[in-house]
Amino acid sequence: MRTKIVAGNWKMNVNEVESTELIQEIKNSIQNLPLENTRVIVAPSFINLASAVKNADNSKIEVAAQNMHEATSGAFTGEVSADMLKSVGIKTIILGHSERRSLFNEDDELLSKKIDTALANDLEVIFCIGEHLEERKTDNYLLEVGSQIKNSLFHLEAKDWKNIILAYEPVWAIGTGETASPEQAQEMHYFIRNAIAKKYNKELAANVSILYGGSVKPSNAEEIFSQADVDGGLIGGASLKANDFTAIIKAI
Ligand code: 13P
Repeated sequence: MRTKIVAGNWKMNVNEVESTELIQEIKNSIQNLPLENTRVIVAPSFINLASAVKNADNSKIEVAAQNMHEATSGAFTGEVSADMLKSVGIKTIILGHSERRSLFNEDDELLSKKIDTALANDLEVIFCIGEHLEERKTDNYLLEVGSQIKNSLFHLEAKDWKNIILAYEPVWAIGTGETASPEQAQEMHYFIRNAIAKKYNKELAANVSILYGGSVKPSNAEEIFSQADVDGGLIGGASLKANDFTAIIKAI
Protein backbone atom coordinates (compact mmCIF):
# COMPACT_ATOMS: atom_id res chain seq x y z
CA MET A 1 0.00 0.00 0.00
CA ARG A 2 1.42 3.38 -0.91
CA THR A 3 1.96 6.03 1.74
CA LYS A 4 -0.23 9.08 2.05
CA ILE A 5 1.65 12.34 2.46
CA VAL A 6 0.77 15.92 3.31
CA ALA A 7 3.75 18.19 2.75
CA GLY A 8 3.99 21.95 3.34
CA ASN A 9 6.27 23.93 1.03
CA TRP A 10 6.98 27.12 2.97
CA LYS A 11 8.82 28.71 0.01
CA MET A 12 10.58 31.99 0.98
CA ASN A 13 8.33 32.63 3.97
CA VAL A 14 8.76 32.23 7.72
CA ASN A 15 11.79 33.44 9.69
CA GLU A 16 13.54 31.56 12.49
CA VAL A 17 11.15 32.63 15.26
CA GLU A 18 8.08 32.02 13.12
CA SER A 19 9.40 28.66 12.00
CA THR A 20 9.86 27.54 15.60
CA GLU A 21 6.34 28.68 16.47
CA LEU A 22 4.74 27.10 13.42
CA ILE A 23 6.37 23.73 14.03
CA GLN A 24 5.29 23.82 17.66
CA GLU A 25 1.71 24.66 16.67
CA ILE A 26 1.56 21.88 14.09
CA LYS A 27 3.14 19.46 16.57
CA ASN A 28 0.47 20.26 19.16
CA SER A 29 -2.43 20.06 16.77
CA ILE A 30 -1.51 16.74 15.13
CA GLN A 31 -0.20 14.84 18.13
CA ASN A 32 -3.48 13.06 18.80
CA LEU A 33 -4.40 12.35 15.18
CA PRO A 34 -4.21 8.67 14.20
CA LEU A 35 -2.12 9.30 11.04
CA GLU A 36 -1.77 5.66 10.09
CA ASN A 37 0.15 5.24 6.86
CA THR A 38 0.34 9.05 6.59
CA ARG A 39 3.43 11.23 6.62
CA VAL A 40 3.50 14.91 7.51
CA ILE A 41 6.38 16.92 6.03
CA VAL A 42 7.31 20.60 6.21
CA ALA A 43 9.91 22.31 4.01
CA PRO A 44 11.31 25.53 5.53
CA SER A 45 14.05 27.59 3.85
CA PHE A 46 17.65 26.37 4.04
CA ILE A 47 18.56 28.69 6.89
CA ASN A 48 15.91 27.26 9.20
CA LEU A 49 16.38 23.58 8.40
CA ALA A 50 18.76 22.71 11.24
CA SER A 51 16.57 24.28 13.91
CA ALA A 52 13.41 22.85 12.32
CA VAL A 53 14.85 19.32 12.52
CA LYS A 54 15.56 19.85 16.23
CA ASN A 55 12.14 21.41 16.87
CA ALA A 56 10.36 18.55 15.10
CA ASP A 57 12.22 15.93 17.11
CA ASN A 58 9.94 13.41 18.83
CA SER A 59 6.98 14.31 16.66
CA LYS A 60 5.29 13.05 13.50
CA ILE A 61 6.66 16.01 11.54
CA GLU A 62 9.46 15.36 9.05
CA VAL A 63 11.55 18.21 7.67
CA ALA A 64 12.47 18.50 3.98
CA ALA A 65 14.58 20.94 1.95
CA GLN A 66 13.19 22.95 -0.97
CA ASN A 67 16.19 22.55 -3.28
CA MET A 68 19.77 21.26 -3.53
CA HIS A 69 22.77 21.76 -5.84
CA GLU A 70 23.69 18.95 -8.20
CA ALA A 71 27.44 19.01 -7.43
CA THR A 72 28.97 17.28 -4.45
CA SER A 73 30.96 20.32 -3.31
CA GLY A 74 33.07 23.14 -4.73
CA ALA A 75 33.05 26.74 -5.92
CA PHE A 76 29.30 27.33 -6.14
CA THR A 77 28.76 30.45 -4.06
CA GLY A 78 25.40 30.52 -2.32
CA GLU A 79 24.53 26.90 -3.02
CA VAL A 80 23.81 23.98 -0.70
CA SER A 81 24.94 20.37 -1.19
CA ALA A 82 23.38 17.01 -0.42
CA ASP A 83 26.02 16.34 2.23
CA MET A 84 25.26 19.64 4.01
CA LEU A 85 21.57 18.80 4.08
CA LYS A 86 22.21 15.30 5.39
CA SER A 87 24.52 16.64 8.06
CA VAL A 88 21.65 18.57 9.67
CA GLY A 89 19.29 15.62 9.52
CA ILE A 90 17.47 16.17 6.22
CA LYS A 91 16.29 13.02 4.44
CA THR A 92 13.91 14.45 1.81
CA ILE A 93 14.23 17.20 -0.82
CA ILE A 94 11.74 18.91 -3.09
CA LEU A 95 13.16 19.19 -6.61
CA GLY A 96 11.77 20.62 -9.84
CA HIS A 97 9.26 23.01 -8.32
CA SER A 98 7.76 25.18 -11.07
CA GLU A 99 9.18 28.28 -9.38
CA ARG A 100 12.68 26.76 -9.64
CA ARG A 101 11.98 25.88 -13.27
CA SER A 102 10.59 29.24 -14.36
CA LEU A 103 12.38 31.77 -12.10
CA PHE A 104 15.75 30.00 -11.83
CA ASN A 105 15.88 28.32 -15.25
CA GLU A 106 16.08 24.76 -13.97
CA ASP A 107 15.36 22.45 -16.90
CA ASP A 108 14.71 18.71 -17.20
CA GLU A 109 18.38 17.94 -17.85
CA LEU A 110 19.64 19.82 -14.78
CA LEU A 111 16.88 18.32 -12.67
CA SER A 112 17.82 14.83 -13.75
CA LYS A 113 21.37 15.52 -12.46
CA LYS A 114 19.98 16.82 -9.17
CA ILE A 115 17.87 13.67 -8.83
CA ASP A 116 20.93 11.47 -9.43
CA THR A 117 22.94 13.38 -6.80
CA ALA A 118 20.11 13.15 -4.27
CA LEU A 119 19.61 9.42 -4.81
CA ALA A 120 23.37 8.75 -4.71
CA ASN A 121 23.28 10.37 -1.26
CA ASP A 122 20.33 8.25 -0.11
CA LEU A 123 18.03 11.24 -0.07
CA GLU A 124 14.37 10.93 -0.95
CA VAL A 125 13.03 13.26 -3.65
CA ILE A 126 9.65 14.93 -3.98
CA PHE A 127 9.76 15.68 -7.70
CA CYS A 128 7.38 18.33 -9.02
CA ILE A 129 5.88 18.27 -12.49
CA GLY A 130 3.08 20.24 -14.08
CA GLU A 131 1.89 22.10 -17.15
CA HIS A 132 1.43 25.82 -17.84
CA LEU A 133 -1.93 27.36 -18.66
CA GLU A 134 -1.12 27.54 -22.40
CA GLU A 135 -0.50 23.79 -22.49
CA ARG A 136 -3.69 23.14 -20.57
CA LYS A 137 -5.64 25.27 -23.05
CA THR A 138 -4.19 23.59 -26.13
CA ASP A 139 -4.77 20.09 -24.79
CA ASN A 140 -1.03 19.42 -24.66
CA TYR A 141 -0.99 19.04 -20.91
CA LEU A 142 -0.62 15.27 -20.75
CA LEU A 143 2.21 15.35 -23.29
CA GLU A 144 4.03 18.09 -21.39
CA VAL A 145 3.90 16.32 -18.04
CA GLY A 146 4.77 13.03 -19.75
CA SER A 147 7.91 14.56 -21.22
CA GLN A 148 8.96 16.09 -17.87
CA ILE A 149 8.76 12.64 -16.29
CA LYS A 150 10.53 10.93 -19.19
CA ASN A 151 13.36 13.47 -19.39
CA SER A 152 14.14 13.63 -15.68
CA LEU A 153 13.16 10.24 -14.29
CA PHE A 154 13.06 7.48 -16.87
CA HIS A 155 16.81 6.89 -16.78
CA LEU A 156 16.38 5.62 -13.21
CA GLU A 157 16.52 1.94 -12.37
CA ALA A 158 13.46 0.33 -10.83
CA LYS A 159 15.15 0.10 -7.42
CA ASP A 160 15.61 3.91 -7.33
CA TRP A 161 11.85 4.51 -7.28
CA LYS A 162 11.49 3.67 -3.62
CA ASN A 163 12.98 7.12 -3.00
CA ILE A 164 10.80 9.04 -5.46
CA ILE A 165 7.56 10.83 -4.59
CA LEU A 166 5.85 12.80 -7.35
CA ALA A 167 3.93 16.05 -6.95
CA TYR A 168 1.64 17.10 -9.79
CA GLU A 169 1.37 20.86 -9.57
CA PRO A 170 -0.40 22.52 -12.52
CA VAL A 171 1.38 25.88 -12.78
CA TRP A 172 -1.91 27.69 -13.37
CA ALA A 173 -3.18 26.50 -9.98
CA ILE A 174 -0.16 27.52 -7.89
CA GLY A 175 -0.87 30.50 -5.65
CA THR A 176 -3.78 31.54 -7.87
CA GLY A 177 -6.66 30.30 -5.75
CA GLU A 178 -7.72 28.24 -8.76
CA THR A 179 -7.54 24.49 -8.12
CA ALA A 180 -7.63 21.67 -10.61
CA SER A 181 -10.99 19.96 -10.31
CA PRO A 182 -10.87 16.54 -8.64
CA GLU A 183 -11.51 15.01 -12.11
CA GLN A 184 -8.63 17.00 -13.68
CA ALA A 185 -6.31 15.90 -10.87
CA GLN A 186 -7.37 12.26 -11.16
CA GLU A 187 -6.97 12.28 -14.96
CA MET A 188 -3.38 13.49 -14.64
CA HIS A 189 -2.44 11.29 -11.69
CA TYR A 190 -3.79 8.23 -13.53
CA PHE A 191 -1.86 9.24 -16.65
CA ILE A 192 1.36 9.60 -14.61
CA ARG A 193 0.91 6.24 -12.87
CA ASN A 194 0.14 4.57 -16.16
CA ALA A 195 3.25 6.06 -17.80
CA ILE A 196 5.39 4.68 -14.95
CA ALA A 197 3.67 1.28 -15.23
CA LYS A 198 4.40 1.16 -18.96
CA LYS A 199 8.06 2.09 -18.51
CA TYR A 200 8.67 -0.14 -15.45
CA ASN A 201 5.82 -2.30 -14.21
CA LYS A 202 2.39 -2.06 -12.61
CA GLU A 203 3.52 -3.02 -9.12
CA LEU A 204 6.22 -0.36 -9.03
CA ALA A 205 3.76 2.27 -10.32
CA ALA A 206 1.16 1.26 -7.72
CA ASN A 207 3.66 2.00 -4.95
CA VAL A 208 4.60 5.54 -6.03
CA SER A 209 2.90 8.26 -3.97
CA ILE A 210 1.63 11.02 -6.26
CA LEU A 211 0.69 14.27 -4.50
CA TYR A 212 -1.42 17.10 -5.86
CA GLY A 213 -0.35 20.71 -5.37
CA GLY A 214 -1.97 24.00 -6.34
CA SER A 215 -4.27 26.06 -4.11
CA VAL A 216 -5.15 23.15 -1.82
CA LYS A 217 -7.05 24.48 1.19
CA PRO A 218 -9.24 23.06 3.96
CA SER A 219 -12.37 23.60 1.84
CA ASN A 220 -11.21 21.56 -1.17
CA ALA A 221 -8.70 19.07 0.26
CA GLU A 222 -11.10 16.22 1.00
CA GLU A 223 -12.57 16.19 -2.50
CA ILE A 224 -9.15 16.17 -4.16
CA PHE A 225 -7.71 13.56 -1.77
CA SER A 226 -10.70 11.28 -2.38
CA GLN A 227 -9.53 10.57 -5.93
CA ALA A 228 -8.12 7.08 -6.49
CA ASP A 229 -4.67 8.13 -7.66
CA VAL A 230 -4.21 11.19 -5.44
CA ASP A 231 -2.09 10.19 -2.45
CA GLY A 232 -1.89 13.52 -0.66
CA GLY A 233 -0.86 17.10 -1.25
CA LEU A 234 2.01 19.52 -1.57
CA ILE A 235 0.65 22.65 0.06
CA GLY A 236 1.95 26.21 -0.31
CA GLY A 237 0.03 29.12 1.21
CA ALA A 238 -2.25 27.04 3.43
CA SER A 239 0.74 25.27 5.02
CA LEU A 240 1.79 28.54 6.67
CA LYS A 241 -1.18 28.48 9.05
CA ALA A 242 -1.16 25.62 11.53
CA ASN A 243 -4.97 25.45 11.63
CA ASP A 244 -5.34 25.22 7.87
CA PHE A 245 -2.48 22.76 7.50
CA THR A 246 -3.96 20.56 10.23
CA ALA A 247 -7.39 20.67 8.62
CA ILE A 248 -5.80 19.53 5.34
CA ILE A 249 -4.01 16.69 7.15
CA LYS A 250 -7.32 15.63 8.67
CA ALA A 251 -8.83 15.49 5.16
CA ILE A 252 -6.43 12.79 4.01
P1 13P B 1 -0.21 27.04 -3.20
O1 13P B 1 -0.79 25.97 -2.32
O2 13P B 1 0.07 28.32 -2.47
O3 13P B 1 -1.00 27.21 -4.46
O4 13P B 1 1.24 26.51 -3.66
C1 13P B 1 1.37 25.22 -4.15
C2 13P B 1 2.81 24.91 -4.27
O5 13P B 1 3.51 25.50 -5.07
C3 13P B 1 3.38 23.91 -3.36
O6 13P B 1 4.67 23.56 -3.76
